[in-house]
Amino acid sequence: MDIVCSAEELKLFELVGEAAAGMGVSCYLIGGFVRDNLLGRITKDADIVCTGDGIALAHAVAAMLPQKPQVNYFKTFGTAQFRLNGFDVEFVGARKESYTSDSRKPEVTPGTIADDQLRRDFTINALAISLNKDDYGKLIDPFNGINDLADKIIRTPLGPDITFSDDPLRMMRAIRFATQLGFTITPEVFEAISRNKERIKIVSQERIIDEFNKIMKAAKPSVGLDLLFRSGLLKEFFPQFAALSGVEIIEGKGHKDNFYHTLQVIDNTASKSDDLWLRWAALLHDIGKPATKAYEEGHGWTFHGHEVVGERMVPRIFKQLKLPLNEHMKYVAKLVLLHLRPISLTKEDITDSAMRRLLFDAGENLEDLMILCESDITSKNKAKVKRYLENFELVKQRLKEVEESDKIRNWQPPITGDDIMRLFNLTPSREVGVLKTAIREAILDGIIPNNYEAAYELLLQKAAELNLKPV
Ligand code: CTP
Repeated sequence: MDIVCSAEELKLFELVGEAAAGMGVSCYLIGGFVRDNLLGRITKDADIVCTGDGIALAHAVAAMLPQKPQVNYFKTFGTAQFRLNGFDVEFVGARKESYTSDSRKPEVTPGTIADDQLRRDFTINALAISLNKDDYGKLIDPFNGINDLADKIIRTPLGPDITFSDDPLRMMRAIRFATQLGFTITPEVFEAISRNKERIKIVSQERIIDEFNKIMKAAKPSVGLDLLFRSGLLKEFFPQFAALSGVEIIEGKGHKDNFYHTLQVIDNTASKSDDLWLRWAALLHDIGKPATKAYEEGHGWTFHGHEVVGERMVPRIFKQLKLPLNEHMKYVAKLVLLHLRPISLTKEDITDSAMRRLLFDAGENLEDLMILCESDITSKNKAKVKRYLENFELVKQRLKEVEESDKIRNWQPPITGDDIMRLFNLTPSREVGVLKTAIREAILDGIIPNNYEAAYELLLQKAAELNLKPV
């Protein structure tokens, strides 16, 4: 088959073939590069497997290249890698597993290309292309991966229990590929995921979250999140998310299934933004609901304060999942806390002051908050959704008008704490904070305009109440 890539990459593959021939070994492109080539997807990394020492082959190829790229290698894993103009190439020796009768643990020894293909995760990832002179470009497909690519099927070369027990992360990978590529996991493989779900515990959290985030970055994350939930895998590493599922009914009244509602909100958000953290805010926006759920007689189900509880849960969840504990976490927590605010402004008789407060609290994240909030409008009742969305547009318009006149976003106080200390000869103290807050609140409430003169006048008045005189 023809390998579709740049002329430089083709030249590199020919060199790999030459270097391998020089070492008396065979070499092949394998895995994601071959799969994506056949799918017409551009890939910027390639895996090469050889029937010998992968590290030695990487060094031999690097030495033949005019750029002489630096080879990074991992002796324990027998892998080596270098980067050539943004193209990543990884080398490994073909491996074989043999079982000895006195041990259940397989022994990994050098093997043939066929041995190596058998140990790969999925048939579509076990496809190889020869880089050897006598059959250069030949597709080597022992498990009919090409048919699975055409039929859009995720299947394992060996029995799935063996493949998953080799590396339980592959259960996450199966779901990730199904989500990214729009493929179907065969029932046999899916059942094996359910059966082996507890084994995910032996995989490092970093590898799990890496796959999870790939699902979150897909065009329709709900596909993978639903598979994770139905297989039982989700509950193993992210029980708080799985706990959103289910509907309770009292006096004939049920609430919505917050898990499937959340999936809808994530998809809605994903259709409007590629930002991973905004998608995470969508995932976590109702995470406080199970803890705040209550049934009020005659009224129905309530989730009072779930946004506050949810905000507090964010740091713990980020820590548990090994997500970064940095400004991304703060951003997600902030959006979770504020997620009800824009929609509460769709009610009648909303004052400009409420608008100003939202502009102030959301600040630079207002657009993202509006995307989240709009995505949160899900209902089976189309007329209801339409009405909400129309009201929501009105809120957007009013926020824009208030911002244009009052400039509240990225607000800087017209009189700073330093100004106050200088004016009244104060050292940092409670009084300075009281005066600063009084000015801010008066501006947000629309009692005074957002300028120096008005703020100064109010400051003198409030200072007098504290028996302070300007110097
Ligand atoms: N592989 C495997 N089991 C794993 C991880 C990887 O068998 N747990 C094999 C597969 O043959 C895979 C190849 O190693 O195709 C390369 O793995 P990786 O680079 O992680 O994935 P890709 O398939 O290249 O896909 P992507 O780049 O989208 O992650």
